[in-house]
Formats: sequence, structure tokens, C-alpha cells
Amino acid sequence: MTTRILTGITTTGTPHLGNYAGAIRPAIIASRDPGAESFYFLADYHALIKCDDPLRIQRSRLEIAATWLACGLDVNRATFYRQSDIPEITELTWLLTCVAGKGLLNRAHAYKASVDKNLAEGVDPDAGITMGLFSYPVLMAADILMFNAHKVPVGRDQIQHVEMARDIGQRFNHLFGNGKELFTLPEAVVEEGVATLPGLDGRKMSKSYDNTIPLFGSARQLKDAIARIVTDSRLPGEAKDPDNSHLFTLYQAFASAAQQAEFRAELIAGLGWGDAKQALFKLLEGELGEARERYQALIERPAELEDILLAGAAKARSIATPFLGELREAVGLRSFRERVVAGATAQKKVAKSARFVSFREEDGSFRFRLLDAEGEQLLLSVAFADGKAAGQVSKRLQSGSALDIRQQGCGFSLWLDEACVATSPEFADAPGCAAAIDRLREALTPRE
Ligand code: TRP
Repeated sequence: MTTRILTGITTTGTPHLGNYAGAIRPAIIASRDPGAESFYFLADYHALIKCDDPLRIQRSRLEIAATWLACGLDVNRATFYRQSDIPEITELTWLLTCVAGKGLLNRAHAYKASVDKNLAEGVDPDAGITMGLFSYPVLMAADILMFNAHKVPVGRDQIQHVEMARDIGQRFNHLFGNGKELFTLPEAVVEEGVATLPGLDGRKMSKSYDNTIPLFGSARQLKDAIARIVTDSRLPGEAKDPDNSHLFTLYQAFASAAQQAEFRAELIAGLGWGDAKQALFKLLEGELGEARERYQALIERPAELEDILLAGAAKARSIATPFLGELREAVGLRSFRERVVAGATAQKKVAKSARFVSFREEDGSFRFRLLDAEGEQLLLSVAFADGKAAGQVSKRLQSGSALDIRQQGCGFSLWLDEACVATSPEFADAPGCAAAIDRLREALTPRE
């Protein structure tokens, strides 16, 4: 069985080197595993929660899409799409919202942090908090559960959200699964081996610290950023301490073991920081130079990117649309063509074959109808005192024992123990009646 890996990228920024080493590169490598099926998407609905600048949203979606493709994501293997191109996700969000406990969502870190901040500032606890922020984990659960992902690679801050997706999925399975696992319960994976890159100042590389190295800026921008990496004040010729140099940490994330060993030795031997920066530039240019060209070419042809993403959406929807149909069915959002079936006979599988429908008369008695695959009535039972008696008769009719069918004119009746238990409607003519008897026999033949 293949493992389904799924992850989303919120489209509010421009990818930097830290995103590349920490998320993009490992995800692309994982997508090449023949035992895996990957779903990677632009979480642009999530972006709207944090950002109300349409231009920024527009630009970020384009840049992130181009980045993943330029870095080598093969869209023939992976399913790559924009969340907002999959209307099933928002629909599923509502189904999940209706089972997600408010208390569960109250505990979400991101929401709690906003409340705490408001409290600390002495303002209303809910000041500035939208329902989008509050429901963020439900939308994320829909992303994950829609595709029955097994593994969800995320940063530490997102583990809680994946656990909430499990909780919500489990609840839904319990309520509507009829013993079946409608949703696969996902697991968060935090890649331990993956580099968390330091930024220019040595703190974690992050947009919020303004210490990032752009991934696909120009070579000039790359050089300028590297020039701003903070080092100690040791002069050329003085031994450097690689293990306390974040410049070395950055180098390590992109170098082979042999290159790392060599660079380490050079630093210890007194390589100047200027030369060390030049070496880092060369290394990064080697890793990213070609990808940058692909990136530029993609950014210049947004219509092609649009086509690629729409094809990805179609691929994703070929899974999401039928699955959502099943889920709607499970919660009772069913076509009126399917009559209400009492109790345990409500089997979806029977939808396209003949089926019994039982109902209660106004006087309190019970009857059933037998409908053929097209929904045409074949039989209407006599009235029974209770549902149990009606159920026993319909069960005996399906047991496979010989049927006592008695024809009268263009209709027929069905007998058990010398008592009439059901009658057919009048059919238009004798052949119509004979055909109905055939369908009746077929409908009452037990199948495996
Ligand atoms: N919330 C995630 C983040 O900020 C992005 C995301 C949205 C996501 N939906 C997802 C990640 C589903 C994994 C699975 O990083």
C-alpha cells in the first residue's frame, strides 16, 4: 500500500533559503519515493486568515508555485494544486465544523496566543480575532482528511493542528461511519534530520526576524545577503571555530560530507571570513543557479503556471468529488430519489439494485414496498401490526426459498404460509406484468 503524504504551504510570503532546506527540498525528495503518493498544495485560504492584502496573496501564490516547480517537483508524480481550486475542501470544512468541539478549538495555540495577547493588553479577549483564525484548524483538518493522508510533514508549531484533524476525523468516523473508517487518521511528521537554518544574525531564519537569504533573488542579491552574515572579528590567518559559526552551519546544509570536512579544515587553518563568504556563495550558486533560471522562466509565463495548477486541481478533484459525495451521503444529505429506509436495511450498496422501503401508516401499522433498481414499485405489503413483523416477512422473502407468486389479470400477489403478504400494482399489459415478475424474482434472489 502506498503512503499518502500531504502538506500545505501558506501563501503569504516569498520562499527563502530556510523554507527551501526545511520544507521544499525534503518534500520534493519524499515525492520521488515510489512507495509514496504526495499531495502538495498552496494553502491560499489559510493565507486569507493572516493577510488582507490581495496583491500580496496574488504574488505569493505565483512565487510559491514557481518555486516548487523550479526546485524539481514532478507534477506527473505528485498532485500539486491550490486549495482554493478545490471547492470540496470548503464544503468538507462545514461538515467538519459541525462535529468539531468548540472546546477543542479554544485550545488551539494560535488562537490562544491571540487571546492572551489581548488580555495582556487589557482589551477585549476577542479583539481582532476573526472566525477564520478560530476555525483555522478545521479548514486544515479538511485539507488533510479530504485526501485521506497518512503522513503530514509539518513544522513543530503545526503538530497540534494535525492532532486536531485526527480528533475531528475520529469523531466523524464514529458518528457517521457505521463501523467503517470514512477518514484515515493522519499523523504529523516532523523531519528531525532536516536542517533548521540560522539566518544572517544567527537566530532561526525567519521572515519575522528579517534575517533571511532570498531563495531566488538575483545572484547579486544572494551575494549581498551573504555579505551581511554576522561573523566574529577574527582576522584572516586566525583559526576560526566552525562549530560556533552559523556561516558554517549554512554551508553544511548544502555541502557533501567531503566538502564540509574540507571547509572545516580551511576555517581552522585561518581562512578569512571574506573568502569563507565567497565559498558559501559559490556553493549556493551551484545548488540554486539553474533552479533560479527555471524560476525566472516560470514567473514570466504565468498562464502556463495557471494551466499546470488547474490540471493539478482536476487531478485532486477526481478524488475529492466522489469522496465528498460519500460523505454527504453519510451525514444524510441524500438525493430524494433514495427513499428513506428504516434501520439496518439502509445500505448504500443497494442503491442501484432493488430495495425494500418500510414505512409507518397513520394508523400505526407497518408496511413495506419493494422497489426495483429504477425505483419502480414491484410490491406493496399488507399492513403489519409492528415493524418487527414486517421485517420478518421481508427477510423471509429474501431467504432464497421458493416464491409463491399468484397472478391475477395484469398484477400479482405474493404469498407466505397460505397468506397474502404483498401485492403488485396493476401493470399496463401482460408482458409488462411478466417482466415485473422477472424483476421480482431477480430482486429476491439472495446474492453474496
Ligand atoms: N497551517 C500550515 C502552516 O502554516 C499550512 C497548512 C494548511 C497545512 N493546510 C495544511 C499543512 C494541511 C499541512 C497539512 O504551515
